[in-house]
Amino acid sequence: MSIHISAEPGEIAPVVLMPGDPLRAKYIADKMLEEVVLVSSTRNAFFFSGLYKGAPVTVGASGMGCPSIGIYSYELYTQYNVECIMRIGTCGSYMPSVKLYDVINVDKACSESTYAKYAFDFEKNSISHQGKAYDIINETALLQHVDIRKGNIHSSDIFYRATSGMPEIVIEHNCMAVEMEAFALFANAQYLHKTAACLLTVSDVIPTHEKMSIDQRERSLDKMITLALESAMRMHAMV
Ligand code: HPA
Repeated sequence: MSIHISAEPGEIAPVVLMPGDPLRAKYIADKMLEEVVLVSSTRNAFFFSGLYKGAPVTVGASGMGCPSIGIYSYELYTQYNVECIMRIGTCGSYMPSVKLYDVINVDKACSESTYAKYAFDFEKNSISHQGKAYDIINETALLQHVDIRKGNIHSSDIFYRATSGMPEIVIEHNCMAVEMEAFALFANAQYLHKTAACLLTVSDVIPTHEKMSIDQRERSLDKMITLALESAMRMHAMV
C-alpha cells in the first residue's frame, strides 16, 4: 500500500497503462483485458490488473495535471516496482495539419511547470520520453500498420486562459499539441531511471474549434488503446 494507491505489493504489473480518466481505465479493463482484478479504488482513481494476450498489465488513472500524475507515477515506480508507465490521453492540436483522431507518440514534453525544477532540480523546460517504450511503440505501429505522428508536445498547467495567442514555449520547441501530464511523468521517470512514454489522440483542434463528440471519443480512442496494449505486451517481454 502507498499513500494514494491501496493495492498490495505484487498486485500491480511491471508495465502500467495510464489514462487520465478512471472510467477510461475501467473501459479498457472491461473491454480488452482478461482475468481483471480491481486492485485500488482510493479516491476513485481505479487501478485494474489483468492479462492482455497472456501478458500481465495494469491500467490505472492518473487524474488531471502534473501534480496528480506526479503522485501516482512516483508511487508506482518507487513502491510497486513498476518499470514502465505509458500515458494514454487526449490532446488539443495547435495546428490544423494535426487533425482530430491523429495519434501522437510524444518525443519531448515541454512545460512552464515548476514541477521538475522543484522536485529534482531539473533546469530544462523540456524532458524526453524515457527508456525504450517510445521506440517499441514506433515499431509496434509499423508492424500493425497504424499511422502515428512523432513529435514534441506542450504539457500545460492551464486549460482556460485569458488570451488565445500561442504560448512562447510552443514556438520554442515546435509543439504540435497540448495536454497536461506528460512532463511530470517524464521527469519522475528520468529521476528514477525508469521507462515512460506517452500516446495522445487529438480530441480537439484549437485554431478551428473542431472537437470530438462524446461518443466519437470512446470509439476513436480504441486505436490508441490497442497500440498501447500491443506495445505493453512487447515491453513486458523485456522487463
Ligand atoms: N488543453 C489541455 N489539455 C487538453 C486539451 C486542451 O485543449 N484537449 C485535450 N487535452
